[in-house]
Amino acid sequence: MLSSLQGRNQYSLRIPTFREGISLLAGRPLRWVPQLLGFILVIWYFGPIIRGGPPDDFKYELPPPIHHPHLPPLYKPPTASANDWKLRSHQVREAFIHSYKGYRDHAFPADELAPMSGKIHNNFNGWGVTVYDALDTMWIMGLSEYFDEAVKFIGEADYTTKPKQYAPFFETIIRHLGGLLSAYALSKDPILLQQADKMGAMLLPAFNTDSGLPAYAISTRTNATRGGWTGNTLWAEALSNQLEYKYLAHITGKPEYFEKAERCMQLMYEANVTDGIFPTQWNTQTGAPSNNKFSVGAFADSAHEYLLKQWLMTSRSETKIKDLYLNVSKSIIENLLYVTPSREMLYVTDADMLKPHPRKSEELPSTIKSGSTPTPSSVPSGTFEHLSCFLPGLFALGAQTLDLPESEKEIHAWAAEGLAYTCWLTYADTKTGLGPDVVSMKMFTKNEDGLWLPRVEKWKEQGRSGRPPGLREPGAATGKANRDYTIYKRSYLLRPEALESFYIMWRTTGDPVWRERGWTIFQAIEKYAKTEIGYASLVDVDKSSEKAPVKDEMPSYFLAETLKYLYLLFTDEELIPLDKWVLNTEAHPIPIFEWTDTEKKLFNIS
Ligand SMILES: *[C@@H]1O[C@H](CO)[C@@H](O)[C@H](O)[C@H]1NC(C)=O
Ligand SMILES: *[C@@H]1O[C@H](CO)[C@@H](O)[C@H](O)[C@H]1NC(C)=O
Repeated sequence: MLSSLQGRNQYSLRIPTFREGISLLAGRPLRWVPQLLGFILVIWYFGPIIRGGPPDDFKYELPPPIHHPHLPPLYKPPTASANDWKLRSHQVREAFIHSYKGYRDHAFPADELAPMSGKIHNNFNGWGVTVYDALDTMWIMGLSEYFDEAVKFIGEADYTTKPKQYAPFFETIIRHLGGLLSAYALSKDPILLQQADKMGAMLLPAFNTDSGLPAYAISTRTNATRGGWTGNTLWAEALSNQLEYKYLAHITGKPEYFEKAERCMQLMYEANVTDGIFPTQWNTQTGAPSNNKFSVGAFADSAHEYLLKQWLMTSRSETKIKDLYLNVSKSIIENLLYVTPSREMLYVTDADMLKPHPRKSEELPSTIKSGSTPTPSSVPSGTFEHLSCFLPGLFALGAQTLDLPESEKEIHAWAAEGLAYTCWLTYADTKTGLGPDVVSMKMFTKNEDGLWLPRVEKWKEQGRSGRPPGLREPGAATGKANRDYTIYKRSYLLRPEALESFYIMWRTTGDPVWRERGWTIFQAIEKYAKTEIGYASLVDVDKSSEKAPVKDEMPSYFLAETLKYLYLLFTDEELIPLDKWVLNTEAHPIPIFEWTDTEKKLFNIS
């Protein structure tokens, strides 16, 4: 028992409370109780000695908060006490135990639990994706029995797909490989490294396309690849494997992992993309852009993340990735951020780009300067996806870590705050208090009148009175008619993105209001999504009945991301310090490291 705790993050090793001990064993035969009591006694006596590390009164310093020095503060109601937060984080841990135990008792070793019927879903190769996704959350929550059991199961896995079966590359990388790497980084268990190396090697032939962009899916039995329904590589697929493969290259010393992942980056550097408008689809054969849709939603989302986070992961050494992030985020801010007409909710949408919006007035063509109206250069759809709610967290992380001039830093920080607040409103406005999957925002008669950045510029020119557009916090809507949007997809799929951003907002601003909002959401999850053996997605977030109808599915990301971000949001200790870790797009923490000189030579890193 004790040896399995060695090497564990020293700050997360603490004396389990009696209630935690009981919950660990909930539902197991009582013969464990004497051992548990003995264990608690041993830990209680020797804990302080084994623990070492910081003294009991050690407190994590939050990273320097982003200040808005010249804005009037908003009124914030009082927040819970330190002890309340401790209890709340404990309740999240209980929720995790409830969902993992349900999976373990009813669905293991299938991929996911059907939380209503107790049946199973094998939707990701049948390798037991819930185990892989939940692994590091177990570690972080101190559930070492579940962890050890899971590692044993993983150690026996083979990863050869069945005949005619294909493993989806993107999902397998972010869920399975990401889970293995992160659990390895936290525990240093060599079995996890061995299995990550094995899986990484078996998935690698997905890059053997003409361009080097990954195919949609691969048979690890034959190395045959298959395209997705678009016939193209999505931008998210092209750029959501670099954190995993570069870290894997770092811990195995194998250049092929670095080279294949970096090839996709190279294609981005070389692509003739105007103004950072990287489209959602890329030709798998030629490696060239193949449409003109610009988005942070479903087809693109994590690609944006992996630009900033790659730069952070390798200790800010690969500056051309940072430049790419800056270029793309500038384009998002200029082209995709809008406010609604009545509530002035800041949102990010997707658009068909005809040509980018002109940047500043001095860059406008002379014909436009002389008074004529610019022709609309992009057609925004007005949809706002829950998936896009990762963006405020990313902007906040960028605002804090990038060395930007003050005027740009504040734009990134304001965008983060306004967008995170809108994500919150889409929860606060509904009958269940849970956010819909997609909404359609009300737009101005002339689309471009709703663009956020020109409104901010105008507010600045007019003397910066009050708070900037999009940050004035209108409060929850009193009725559907006052929402300024209609719900387009009514489901809540237990998704994490809003909570992810609240967590980063809390860590980067130190404002406890984000924790309170997260707590409100967690209570709604408990009320509406909890089933006897797990948690279920909701069909309709706006159903007025006491118990909203639920879908018979519990996606593995609920355990990897949603519950992890809630736990991290409520624990006072910063268990995964943001200056030491980056979280992959499935919330699997990967450590920040520096390339050694040997690696630079071996991998040809300039
Ligand atoms: C698949 O590719 C790997 C190299 O990545 C190779 O070692 C393996 O033999 C190949 N398998 C088949 C069936 O071709
Ligand atoms: C981009 O443009 C340059 C110069 O016009 C050309 O040489 C290069 O092949 C183009 N790249 C792609 C990926 O189309």
